[in-house]
Amino acid sequence: MISLYNEVRERTELLCKSLKTEDYVVQPVVDVSPPKWHLGHTTWFFETFILIPHLPNYKVFHPDFNFIFNSYYETVGQRVLRTDRGNLSRPTVDEVYKYRKHVNQAMQQVLKNSISKELEDILLIGINHEQQHQELLATDIKYILGHNPLFPRFETYFEKRKSKSRTD
Ligand SMILES: [Fe+2]
Repeated sequence: MISLYNEVRERTELLCKSLKTEDYVVQPVVDVSPPKWHLGHTTWFFETFILIPHLPNYKVFHPDFNFIFNSYYETVGQRVLRTDRGNLSRPTVDEVYKYRKHVNQAMQQVLKNSISKELEDILLIGINHEQQHQELLATDIKYILGHNPLFPRFETYFEKRKSKSRTD
C-alpha cells in the first residue's frame, strides 16, 4: 500500500513537472482549478482524513489550509469558493510543495505499520481521489496552456520517456 501511495503522489507531481510558477496559479474559467489548488487539495485529503485522526502527535502543516483546500466537504468546515481559487496568490507554489512533502513524510509513519481495514478503505479513497484529480489536472493544464497565446507545450514525464525510447 505504501508503494501505491508513493507512486500516485509522485505521478501527480510529474504531471506538473513542465509547468512554470505562473502556470500553477491562474483560473481562466470557473470550471478550471489552478494546478496549485489540485496539489494542495489532494494533500489536504490525506491530512484531514488520515493524519489528523489517526497519527498521534501529527502537526498540522498550516491552520488555514483546511479553509483553502477543502472543496465541498461541508462537515469539515468553511472553504474558499470554487470560483475564487484563481485569486489565491498565497500560499506560494513552493509552500504547497512543502505541504505535500510534510504530509508524505507523515504518511510514511502511518503506512510503515499494518493498518486497520477502516483506515485502508479511507486510504484507497484518498488514492483514488488523487487519481481523479490527475485527470482533472491534465484537463485543466491543457486548458490553461491552450488558452495562452504563446501556446506553451504541455510536456509530461511520460512523453519524455516515450521520446527517449524512440531515439534509443
Ligand atoms: Fe477533490
